[in-house]
Amino acid sequence: MKFFIDTANLKQIKEAQDLGVLDGVTTNPSLMAKEGITGRDNILQHYKDICAIVTGDVSAEVISTEFSEMVKEGEALAALHEQIVVKVPMIKDGIKAIKYFSDKGIRTNCTLVFSSGQALLAAKAGATYVSPFIGRLDDISSDGLNLIAEIRHIYDNYAFQTEILAASVRHTMHVIDCAKIGADVMTGPLSSIEGLLKHPLTDSGLAKFLADYKKGNN
Ligand code: G3P
Repeated sequence: MKFFIDTANLKQIKEAQDLGVLDGVTTNPSLMAKEGITGRDNILQHYKDICAIVTGDVSAEVISTEFSEMVKEGEALAALHEQIVVKVPMIKDGIKAIKYFSDKGIRTNCTLVFSSGQALLAAKAGATYVSPFIGRLDDISSDGLNLIAEIRHIYDNYAFQTEILAASVRHTMHVIDCAKIGADVMTGPLSSIEGLLKHPLTDSGLAKFLADYKKGNN
């Protein structure tokens, strides 16, 4: 299972990279705005800065919603760095653009996926990754994890190569449940990764080991 961090915050990206288990980064326009990164040139530079920190894939999202504009924008993003994966929204022109990019060998991440039908279409178009937003489904009393299970089932039926990138992961249990279902990738905040570290028996066990060592070595 690949671990991506879902942020445009360079400090957090570096912290996750330093942990040694990071496989990539996902961003979106809202995450960029949250870090105060605005204007095309600054945004492009920020993608390059992220690529300089991590060794894995970095999703960079197109803003256009019309096919020819998406193609222009996506090609420019892909040309920035070999780690860039072009993030394309699940709309009609987005599917056409994913097919175009796939034929050209440009990797894509189909974003804003909320149904298994959308995920099937993204795979047919040749998306490298498909991003079902599980947290946002949970937010509206729908079952995000069930969507991951449905997509896993459909992709396995036909051996689709598209990787299931569980997005909108909000906490550590999402990560564990996605791993149980067999999501290929999860993207979430740093806290969702660091939460995996925690167990009270680890803390109390370590405290006792260290105390006993101290007793024997005084
Ligand atoms: O990057 C897309 C997705 O992960 C957004 O997450 O928490 O805004 O629903 P969230």
